[in-house]
Amino acid sequence: MRLVIDCDDAAESLKQALYEHAKALGYEIDDLAYQKSHDCDYPDVAFNLARKVAAGEYDRGILVCGTGLGVAMCANKVQGAYAGTCHDVFSAERLKKSNDANIITMGERVVGVEHAKKILEAFLDAKEFQTKSQRKVDRMRALEAESFRKK
Ligand code: RB5
Repeated sequence: MRLVIDCDDAAESLKQALYEHAKALGYEIDDLAYQKSHDCDYPDVAFNLARKVAAGEYDRGILVCGTGLGVAMCANKVQGAYAGTCHDVFSAERLKKSNDANIITMGERVVGVEHAKKILEAFLDAKEFQTKSQRKVDRMRALEAESFRKK
C-alpha cells in the first residue's frame, strides 16, 4: 500500500509524527511538503494531495491541519477523493470499511499524538471494504459523477 501525507503550517509536528509512525510500521510513504515550496494555505495542500490519490498515484492519503476539517472539505471536492476527519479509532476503521474512503484527515489542535497514531493504524489496518455497504457507496459515487458532469 503506497501512502502519501501532507499538512499545513498548523500541523507540521503531527504530520512528522504520523509520517515516522507509518514508516516504522513498514509502509511506503511520501511527504509532499507542498506548503514548503508554494505560497499557499490548506486548500492548495489538500487539492494537491487529493488529486494524486484520485489519480491512483497513491492508495491512501493522510492530511493534517489545525482541525482536520478544512483539508477534508477541500479533498472531497476532487472527483475520486473520499476523505473523512477522524479523531477516534472506531470512526477510522469505519471510514474504510463502511465508506471506502481513501483519505483520512486529523487536526493537530484536536488530538494527541499517541492517539493520532492509533487512529492512523485503525484506518490502515482496515483493508476490507464491507460489501453490505456497497449499495450506499455506489450511490454516493453515482451522485458524485452526476454532480461533476453538471459542472
Ligand atoms: C489554520 O490555517 C487553520 O485554519 C487550518 O489549519 C485548519 O484548521 C482549517 O480547517
